[in-house]
Amino acid sequence: MLLPMKMPLLPPASHQPQPYTGPSAAEVLAQRQQFLSPGLFLYYQKPLMLVEGKMQYLWDETGKRYLDGIAGIVTVSVGHCHPHVVAAAQRQNELLQHSTTIYLNPNIGAFAEKLASKMPGDLKVCYFVNSGSEATDLALLMARLYTGNYDLIALRNAYHGGNASGMAVTAHSSWKFNVPHSFGVHHALAPYPYRGPFGYDDAQAGHKYADDVKSVIDYATSGKVAGFIAESIQGVGGFVEFPEGYLHAAYGHVRAAGGVCIADEVQTGFGRLGTHFWGFETHGVIPDIVTMAKGIGNGAPLAAVVTTAKIAATLTGKVHFNTFGGNPVVSAMGKAVLEVIETEGLQAHSLELGNHLKAGFEKLKGKHPLIGDVRGQGLLLGIELVKDRVAKTPAKAECAAVLEAAREMGLLLGKGGLWGQTIRFAPPMVITQADADFVLEVLDAAFAQVSGC
Ligand SMILES: Cc1ncc(COP(=O)(O)O)c(C=O)c1O
Repeated sequence: MLLPMKMPLLPPASHQPQPYTGPSAAEVLAQRQQFLSPGLFLYYQKPLMLVEGKMQYLWDETGKRYLDGIAGIVTVSVGHCHPHVVAAAQRQNELLQHSTTIYLNPNIGAFAEKLASKMPGDLKVCYFVNSGSEATDLALLMARLYTGNYDLIALRNAYHGGNASGMAVTAHSSWKFNVPHSFGVHHALAPYPYRGPFGYDDAQAGHKYADDVKSVIDYATSGKVAGFIAESIQGVGGFVEFPEGYLHAAYGHVRAAGGVCIADEVQTGFGRLGTHFWGFETHGVIPDIVTMAKGIGNGAPLAAVVTTAKIAATLTGKVHFNTFGGNPVVSAMGKAVLEVIETEGLQAHSLELGNHLKAGFEKLKGKHPLIGDVRGQGLLLGIELVKDRVAKTPAKAECAAVLEAAREMGLLLGKGGLWGQTIRFAPPMVITQADADFVLEVLDAAFAQVSGC
């Protein structure tokens, strides 16, 4: 007989949420079903309504508190409603909310200068937009204008956005009818050692996967390409880490064919990986164009494309304009986010807690056969679930069940991968050691509950 499990205890929080007096979750759901797009999807069998957040914690309308283990899909970098970011937004909201880039305002330049100081090499010119999808679109446009070539190479299992060009470079079966958008886009093998043809035991895997990029260039293009876009760790694809040497070799093939290399840092940037500020740095490469969003604004609608002066010059003289991009409020918030990452040492903190958690996840793998693979860096960690470790059958239902069980215990997690088989853990970078230990206890209990042992 199974003994009743001890419920893991969420570490105490000093913040007291305000009493919630708004509409019920059922009313909000009904309103959403009537007035919002049916294309929007919800997590959990009983949808969760969140009404307040403070740093790493969230509260639902009943006052129940949760540890946020996915940060609004890797968006809340420095903590929900971080006081320094809120103060920057409030100060600017009262001064001037909107002035387009046709006028001068000090905030956009100050933010751009600070962001450029974080970039290596000649990556010093910033262009601000409102979402990661827009950043993808702009980066692809720049690649085509700069090179004069048309063909683009992206990776299977990637995600780069929900607009036409973002979908074009995203390879996901749910969008397979969007073929017209994908004209000129070719998808190379995902460098996915756990599932792909070249595994963790193959020391040449990085070069072998990169050879597929070369093969795509040779077989599917005229031999000239505009660009190659890749995340530094695939996010929506289930936090897939590329084998050593992959990006370096792939960049070599792309540049030899006249293309530029675009790093999508929407999930991997801003110190989250711990050892480096940007994900591409962990691969020892310097891209030609970098896209960033999500964590850049800690929840503000802010995104950016950073490139070299030479590539940026391709837009000179063209009417290319973004009404809200880099407006005074979001620029103040973006600069405040960078200040918090520095002053609170959040990159080093991500490394320390990430290492602790990854070691804990590995231990759980030793105990729970459902876990097929543990991967990721810093506070961007994935646990891929399989029904059996030899066939690697994706454990989709089990993954959803682990998320449900964790939610009951007060932990919110994300999921990813083609079948929704991978747990994604990417909390605000301010979680504590006690929070990390709580995560390990919850996962242990949730895996036991789901596998019935
Ligand atoms: C790696 C990556 N690139 C681009 C995007 C698109 O960003 P947005 O949703 O802000 O348009 C996302 C969103 O999840 C993403 O994960």
